[in-house]
Amino acid sequence: MNKLSDWERIAGVDFLKKAGIKKGNKVLEFGCNDGNYTIPASAVVGEKGTVFAIDENKTAIGQLKEKIRPLKYDNIEIIGTNGALNFNLCDDFIDFVMLYDVLHYFNIKHRRILYKEVFRILKPDSVLSVYPKHIIGNFPLMEFKNVTLNELVNEIQDAGFKYSGKICSKLSHDSHLEEGCIINFVKKPRYR
Ligand SMILES: C[S@@+](CC[C@H](N)C(=O)[O-])C[C@H]1O[C@@H](n2cnc3c(N)ncnc32)[C@H](O)[C@@H]1O
Repeated sequence: MNKLSDWERIAGVDFLKKAGIKKGNKVLEFGCNDGNYTIPASAVVGEKGTVFAIDENKTAIGQLKEKIRPLKYDNIEIIGTNGALNFNLCDDFIDFVMLYDVLHYFNIKHRRILYKEVFRILKPDSVLSVYPKHIIGNFPLMEFKNVTLNELVNEIQDAGFKYSGKICSKLSHDSHLEEGCIINFVKKPRYR
């Protein structure tokens, strides 16, 4: 069985509280991999909350299933997918969405589809939280090779979210810890 890291058990829990997750929340992590953030989120939301964890990587999902066995709360719903950008979740249902180290997989067209879907499932005034890895100045990669932080913030705001601040901390990235910042946005009621 994969052992939980100290970060997943302790520092990650403190960090996600600072990021805005609360007891009883319904949280979605899209692109959860083996759960570096899903696992601490489970501890924060507690027995009345739920963490929906989506990933298309079957190996990672298998590892996550192993890792969550000994957890205190049975509150993680793992959703394996074929990579679809629409989720089987109701409108205005989720309190906090994590898009951590995942947006660089998608071109602008697909990112816009993803933002729209996140907007649909989030409750009004709830939080979209992004860990903007691999933009210019931060080991640029894949679809973010030419994207700046400002451009990313603007495209998310254009999708109906309002930037609400950044939280910097020691964060988990792949299999190591590093200093980094997540950026938060609030879903603003749509002028439909
Ligand atoms: C770099 S990992 C980040 C994992 C985790 N969020 C973290 O920060 O530790 C990105 C994850 O996104 C997943 N992913 C990429 N595209 C996806 C898609 N279309 N649907 C579901 N998962 C996807 C990958 O399989 C991978 O596990």
